[in-house]
Amino acid sequence: MDRINLINLPTPLQEINVDNKNNYFIKRDDLTDFALGGNKARKIEYFLYDIQKKGCNYVVTYGSAQSNHCRITAAAATRLGLKCLLILAGTDSDFTYTGNDILYYLTGANVRWCDVNEVSEVIKNEIKKLKSQGYNPYFIPGGGHGNLGTHAYVEAYKEIKFQSKEIGIDFDYIFVASGTGTTQAGLIAGKQISNGNEKIVGISVARKAHRGIEVIKESLESYYEEYHADMLHETQDIIFDDCYIGKGYADIYKGIVDAIKFMVSKNSIVLDPVYTGKAFYGMCEYIKKENIEDKNILFVHTGGIPILFSKGKQIIDLSI
Ligand SMILES: Cc1ncc(COP(=O)(O)O)c(C=O)c1O
Repeated sequence: MDRINLINLPTPLQEINVDNKNNYFIKRDDLTDFALGGNKARKIEYFLYDIQKKGCNYVVTYGSAQSNHCRITAAAATRLGLKCLLILAGTDSDFTYTGNDILYYLTGANVRWCDVNEVSEVIKNEIKKLKSQGYNPYFIPGGGHGNLGTHAYVEAYKEIKFQSKEIGIDFDYIFVASGTGTTQAGLIAGKQISNGNEKIVGISVARKAHRGIEVIKESLESYYEEYHADMLHETQDIIFDDCYIGKGYADIYKGIVDAIKFMVSKNSIVLDPVYTGKAFYGMCEYIKKENIEDKNILFVHTGGIPILFSKGKQIIDLSI
């Protein structure tokens, strides 16, 4: 599958200090080096190729007020000289002038706020409006969900395998933050296609397990249907832990703040409180809960650091 090359690959894979029970490594997808990087930067390369192939000139997507996907989409559209509309759940008053939202502004993207319950209606209407104005719009599902996003992490899995061979380590576990589940689906598909043995554990940032697993299954089926019909009937062992969501998406609690502080102080690596901080905290708890010892563990840092800078006050309050 073709992509427009925007990011620096491979991202580093490094050993980190966590505890002395297991060996821990981190895949630095926060260093994809495109508009502050992250997993969304891997995905956007494939969408951009599709956009150009279809001759589209206006990119439309949606996300939360502090969406990493919207930041990356807006930056990528500008880079290619395309117009961009971000449909954001919330109101003008959610604009914080920090984190991802200041970057939406700097890219010159158009922003349309709407109530979360009206998102699909607004998307439909905005696309209709753009067509009536003579544009050829392209819609990217929120979070870069879909086969192209899944494929980006099939490729990332291959990159991980290559690096693990280079350092002579076989990973027993790969942990990742799971939102739309596309990143996790890509890693699972990558593993199944290359007969890998790792357990791929998604730490949910919002969805309950039933829904999270259902969506990952759908993503896998859809990906295999389009690109790997031979894999369609594979048994799908999806591990998706919903124990660390807290009160819901973007709920920040003390365990997350402590995990972020730990990573900065022990490894000089910065996590965000909504995705990677929650996932790292979840990973440590999962390892304790399952009594995992003497294993090689990889944590995928999926980026999202700008969010940290929009939640400073909450983080300080939780530190006291
Ligand atoms: C930093 C970060 N990590 C992880 C995720 C989850 O990725 P996915 O939606 O593919 O599950 C997201 C999604 O928004 C994200 O921004």
